[in-house]
Amino acid sequence: MSLCSSRCNDDLLALLQGSCGKPVSGVEIGRCLGISRAAVWKRIEVLRLAGYKVKSMTGEGYVLEETPDFLTREVIGRLLRGKIFLPHRYHFFSEIESTNAYAARLAAEGEPEGTVVVADHQTRGRGRLGRVWESPGNVNLYFSMILRPRVEPQHTAQMTLISGLALAETVAGIGVKGVEIKWPNDLLLDGGKLAGILTEMAAEEGRVHHVVVGVGLNVNAAKVAYSPEIQTIARSLGDHLQKTVKRAPLLADFLFRFEGWYRRYLDDGFASIREAWIESSGIRGKQVRVNLMKESFSGEALDMDGEGFLLVRRHGDREVRRVIAGDVTPL
Ligand code: BTN
Repeated sequence: MSLCSSRCNDDLLALLQGSCGKPVSGVEIGRCLGISRAAVWKRIEVLRLAGYKVKSMTGEGYVLEETPDFLTREVIGRLLRGKIFLPHRYHFFSEIESTNAYAARLAAEGEPEGTVVVADHQTRGRGRLGRVWESPGNVNLYFSMILRPRVEPQHTAQMTLISGLALAETVAGIGVKGVEIKWPNDLLLDGGKLAGILTEMAAEEGRVHHVVVGVGLNVNAAKVAYSPEIQTIARSLGDHLQKTVKRAPLLADFLFRFEGWYRRYLDDGFASIREAWIESSGIRGKQVRVNLMKESFSGEALDMDGEGFLLVRRHGDREVRRVIAGDVTPL
């Protein structure tokens, strides 16, 4: 996602961001903003106080070196400037019980599609099947999106698949190789869990009122931030890359990519997503363990069908099973 632009902009940050690492002179900034060079200097100081790292290069101008890793509307809005219809509405909390629970409440009150709820910390993060999603503060991404697709209730799981695809692309976009999408809702890395997606909906008589898609992505949390049980399972981008990863650009990039796929889904249906998902997951031919509510078996994943369900040929009797809900783990 490139926002480089040589055009004049009356917003100082946008102007510096648009120059993409090239110095912008005080004269140029003053001209674009219609202010004196002294006033430019003052505005640069304000940015620095807000956590932006702006370098002054003698005789050349100012370069924006670093943006603070805040997940506020302002920071994410700037990163997505002019690029996206989501998020129409953006709610940021430094602490909340669960972004999914809050988003569901907003959705029930009529909040529109495209609303995003983001938190630095969740005190009661929700996982699938009633599990807890441990959510240490200020290190990871926890967010939920409100969607209102006109689909049958049984097809809302497709929102999970779209999100997983966008998330896998986002992570690959920062140079992380080897991420696996695990049907239907996880991202795996280095043999553990990097991210989980929880899709919840409100529907009646075959009509979907709203869908809330919640994403938890382990970005920088150290293992000790989790309970011993989760420590063995959780993986993070920071650990994998051996450096701190900024959350804000990841979130912005995810929203941008998600919107692209979601629009495509609304325009063309699930088929285009299906192909991309199959390719990205490399699911065909994988040996998997399928855990259903009442039984489990192993087999070979053959394909994903046109509705997003997985077709698995059981080891032994070779019966092909259509997996609608459950956990499918690569062997
Ligand atoms: C899973 O069990 O794998 C799904 C985990 C989903 C966690 C995310 S974090 C943001 C959003 N809010 C929640 O309470 N849960 C989801």
